[in-house]
This record gives sequence, structure tokens and C-alpha cells, in this order.
Amino acid sequence: MLDKVHSYIISTKDTIIPSNVIQYIQNNISPHAEIIDWVSKHEKEIDDIWDERYEIIGKISKSIRNNGIAILDNIGIGDVIDFRVRHIALYLLLTTISKPSIHSTNDIFWDVKDIGDQKNGKVITFSERYGECPLHTDSAFSEHPEHFLTLYVVKPANDGGESVYLSFKNLLHTLTEHKDGDKCRYLLENTDFPFMTPPSFNPNTPVILKPVFQDNRVRFRYDCLIDGLDKYPELRTVDRVWCIELLNELIENNQFKKIVSVQKDQMILIDNWHGFHARTHFEDKSRFLIRARLI
Ligand SMILES: [Fe+2]
Repeated sequence: MLDKVHSYIISTKDTIIPSNVIQYIQNNISPHAEIIDWVSKHEKEIDDIWDERYEIIGKISKSIRNNGIAILDNIGIGDVIDFRVRHIALYLLLTTISKPSIHSTNDIFWDVKDIGDQKNGKVITFSERYGECPLHTDSAFSEHPEHFLTLYVVKPANDGGESVYLSFKNLLHTLTEHKDGDKCRYLLENTDFPFMTPPSFNPNTPVILKPVFQDNRVRFRYDCLIDGLDKYPELRTVDRVWCIELLNELIENNQFKKIVSVQKDQMILIDNWHGFHARTHFEDKSRFLIRARLI
């Protein structure tokens, strides 16, 4: 279902990050500046020249509450070449929303782009290759998955690669309508399922056992669940397999899926606790997004 994109779009009368803030970062950046150190040193000056820094928070919260996603339009770094300036600018924006989490490689930001065969045959993640990605929640195999996922678009694909979102609320509605939905929901809420950490990550805990639905939140990644059941065959019960397969079918074929096209210099913010996201197929290897997650 192609939804009306404009209902998620959040903009300000000029760029969301004002040009004088970008200029300030460019003038004051040092060659080896660490993002967090730089910001703590310069934040007071930034707040002095960025009056409206916190003013879009209300609009973002409202869109997330109503739609599960928000698209921030015209961020203001589309022509910035220096990735350090881009990262600091994005960090200043994201910290008005919540606290960015640190990636396992100690980075706040992760480049989502095709890397070809740079890993010499090692497993590469969805974020490192072109093509579609099925509906899932991020960090489903973590003890505490992040609340939000953000993707800033440096360069969209010219042949697809759109974002897809399905809210947990709509999925629950679909379950309610299904003849076996009550049983499936009960099992998803009251059974521990094994989520295996993908081999491309550096796992301290390779498998965690969690319900798929818990505290009105969802965690789901089909391949992690299948790999978890492969690793622990004693957990491969008829109920667990039935549940995962039915849920996956109801997610993938869901009538409430929203397809959203995110353009250059826009950023999509996704509620990772209360919905599933995916991307449509693309082959344009120049597609380039910058991902961060917020706790
Ligand atoms: Fe994801």
C-alpha cells in the first residue's frame, strides 16, 4: 500500500539545521575531532546560534505516535562533503530527540552502502549490500533493542530501495482477524524464542531467549529466529515453528504496510519498539544512507 508521504514530513521554514551552525562546525573542526568531545566543548556556542534546535521535537513525537515514523525534510547537509561535519551536525540534531547508541565498532554512525567484496568472502550485513531486506526490528537479538532507528539519505537509489513500515498495532489487528490469531498471540507473548546473533556481528551472547511480544513491544527477525532454532533443536517445538511461520506470513503479506520514499537530505526516524521496517529491492550501488540508533 502506497501511503500519503506528506503526512509524515516534518520541515522548518529553512533547513532543519541552520546554515550558520554548519558554518560554525566547519570553522571549528579539528583533524581528529571525536564527535562527543567536540560537541561537549562547543554545545553552548551552538545553542546560542541555533535558537530553534528543540522546536521540532513536538512535531516528531506526534508523527511517531500517529504513524510510527517521521521524515525530517531538508536537513541542511546535502552539500557537505566532509563526513566529520555531517556526523557532528547529525549528532547535534539526534541528541535533541534521544541518546544515540554506540555501534559495536565504537561508532555512532554507520554507512549503509554496498561494499562489494571488501570483506573477502566474510558474511556481510544487509546494510553492506544492495537488494531488498525483509520486515524486521533492529537489534532483535540484543537484550535491549534501541527505541529508534534513523537513516539519513546522502544519495537515494535510482531504482527502488524505499523504506517499508508496518506498525505493531496494525499487525496485532491482523492477528485479531485471523482464525488462529489468539493462539498465536498468546504463544508469542508467553513463550521464550531463541534469537541468534548474526555471524556478521561480534557476539558476546550468541543467543538470547525472549518472547517476541513483550511489554507492548515487538522484537522480530525471521533469520535470527530460524538460526536460533537450528542451534538449539530442543527448542524446535511444533508450536514455536508454527508461530514464527504464521507471524512471518502475516507480516510479509500485510495490507497495512506503508512504502515511503525518502529523498536526498531527508532523514527517516522509525519507532523500532512498535513496528517493523524493511526496504524494497534496488541494484543502484551508489545508494548511500547514514544510520544511527537512539536508545
Ligand atoms: Fe534494520
